[in-house]
Amino acid sequence: MGSELDLVTDWSTLYNWERDPHRTRIARRISGELFPFEMPPLNSLDLLDQARRQPIARILHQRPGPRLDDKANAADRIRALPIEKAAEDPSLHLSLFDLKALTAPGAALHRFKREVFDPLESFWRERGVRWDAFLPVLFITGSASATNYHFDPDTTLPLHLFGRKRFHALKRPDYWCPREERQAVLARGGWPVKPAGITDDEVLVHENKPGEIVWIPVHTPHWVDAGSFSATLTFALKNCRFAETPLAVAR
Ligand SMILES: [Fe+2]
Repeated sequence: MGSELDLVTDWSTLYNWERDPHRTRIARRISGELFPFEMPPLNSLDLLDQARRQPIARILHQRPGPRLDDKANAADRIRALPIEKAAEDPSLHLSLFDLKALTAPGAALHRFKREVFDPLESFWRERGVRWDAFLPVLFITGSASATNYHFDPDTTLPLHLFGRKRFHALKRPDYWCPREERQAVLARGGWPVKPAGITDDEVLVHENKPGEIVWIPVHTPHWVDAGSFSATLTFALKNCRFAETPLAVAR
């Protein structure tokens, strides 16, 4: 299987979809003039080793299921293993929300910062995308790990780095997770539970390939199953919005 997500390759279409109530809540792939970047090479074990050394790394054990479990701490175990064994841990689920150390000169993501994050941030601003904060976040997963059903407080754009990850989104996100449900989850904290009635034909599946990037609208439910040692760099855009007169549409 490849991708059941729609693909948007130009700014005019992206802007039009943002104004279309039938489209704006649906996850989509973006490429072409929206993401004209080459992926620099990356050493996956160096990336994991540098990430697990960060005191703020959230290191969990996760398995596919109806909800996220952010209490399943595996930090001591993963940090104590030889790095090859840590990468082979099937339930590994590492999240790193501050990439300062990993983007420093000589670190695993230094070229990514120089060749992807920084130019992307200024390029999207030039094209009229606006945000209050631009936050790259790293997720590294083991072969049978999962990021279970959830929605994020920001618009998020996962850029796939390596390995196999199967992304799932909903054709009718607001039917399965209406505004009242989202507000209730946000008010009580914690994570939503995947509704039991979601059948395969309600789901959009996308098999990530390295260099592919998905646009997930804010508060749109999604979930990801890993199929191998794998990693994603997600750009979280806080309060993402579009300029009144975007260059792309005005030109
Ligand atoms: Fe997410």
